[in-house]
Amino acid sequence: MQERFVIGGLAGRKTLKGELPVRGAKNAILKALPASVLFEDTVVLTNVPDIEDAERMGELVRASGATVERSGSTITITPPPKWRSELEHSIAERIRASIVLTGPMLARTGSVHFPYPGGCVLGERPIDLFLQGFTAMGATVKEDAEGVFNIHAHGGVLLGAEIFFPFISVTATETLMLAAVLAKGETILENAAMEPEIPALAAFLNACGAHIEGAGTSTIRIQGTAGKPLRAEGRPMAMPPDRIEAGSFVILAALAGEDVTITDCEPKHIDALLTLLSRAGVPLEIGERSIRVRSGAIPNERYKSVVVRTHEYPGFPTDLQSPMTIFLTQTTGEVTVLETVFDGRLRYAEDLIRMGADITIMNPHRILIRGPRKLSRKELEGPDLRAGLAYILAASVAVGTSIVNNAYVIDRGYEKIEERLRAIGLSIRRELTR
Ligand code: EPU
Repeated sequence: MQERFVIGGLAGRKTLKGELPVRGAKNAILKALPASVLFEDTVVLTNVPDIEDAERMGELVRASGATVERSGSTITITPPPKWRSELEHSIAERIRASIVLTGPMLARTGSVHFPYPGGCVLGERPIDLFLQGFTAMGATVKEDAEGVFNIHAHGGVLLGAEIFFPFISVTATETLMLAAVLAKGETILENAAMEPEIPALAAFLNACGAHIEGAGTSTIRIQGTAGKPLRAEGRPMAMPPDRIEAGSFVILAALAGEDVTITDCEPKHIDALLTLLSRAGVPLEIGERSIRVRSGAIPNERYKSVVVRTHEYPGFPTDLQSPMTIFLTQTTGEVTVLETVFDGRLRYAEDLIRMGADITIMNPHRILIRGPRKLSRKELEGPDLRAGLAYILAASVAVGTSIVNNAYVIDRGYEKIEERLRAIGLSIRRELTR
């Protein structure tokens, strides 16, 4: 049995009203759980979203020996007497972020064994930056006949190293930062990713005995503890708000909202989006921790189309590219969307064309959108969780009742999305299907 969402389209009407609180960031909890391996005492994580990916990562850390307990939005991780350095294959093969656990596990136990990580299909997702980083830190990397990577640190301890990333990678930055925390000597990560989840994690680790400088900039320096584990001593780490969820909600409010306030968010984390929306004519009232969108009086065709080019943080996030494309099908003008981070992240555009959008797929990285066009109901299946949510947005503005299959993919990153969107007036329900 599978689950799917059934969404009653508003046919361009703007009726949604109320407050929409944002949950903790998926891409923060997916790093905080692996980071717990660096600790010798219990770690408490708060503001954890109730999503499938957090569940799976919790299982992976549990399978490595820890006690992982959840109570509401708090997860408590108690370390085992001895960590198991072979990552559980069945879980690691399902989530791409399992690769993040390799860094702290290698640093803590001196070795790590894992299969090639799985996850969302976003084109090729190599792990060369991780392996090169471990090698630079003095580890030996071997891949056996079954495709399992076996990595050993000489003498059980990683050594500080200078590592320049030829491409910016979020998880490679985080994985090597975590590995370097317990290494011997100084590690310098250059051309590092600057996503806000990285300084949030570093601040917590520093409060617990790590020495990380420059997280949130492109150069991160880590003085290793030479094997001495961290101690949380009861200090919790609160997950920062999910900026991708916040941004997606703002787009929904612009398209289908009369008066919607997105709360519990960090507006400055989505400056790139808010700047473009404001240029397009969306009325935004930006508070300290909230964004109010009073768009009821503005028909979508009065919004102007804006060119989008994805970029690493603080540029326009690739994870907001598909929701933004939905926005651009409803605005006036002809513009391109250029995806620079991943191959294969524009495939969903074919479904939007089936719904009536005027989109030309110029190449795997660029689409041309002419708007506004009316979208009509369809049965859809999101190729990844972000496109899945974009389909919910498309279905909300469409004429007629649409179906978004494969609710599981959306549940990976969004907590009970149907309940939360229903609370602002969207007609959306979950149903079982065969
Ligand atoms: N890359 C390499 N070699 C590597 C690693 C990455 O060539 O060893 C390339 C990738 O193929 C890609 C580019 O570098 O073309 C950037 O990928 P990155 O490594 O930054 O992506 P990621 O760390 O795997 C994280 C988020 C993604 C988000 C991207 C970009 C997590 C768990 N995932 O992925 O989130 O899209 O950064 O911001 O943090 C999502 O939440 O839906 C999601 C996919």
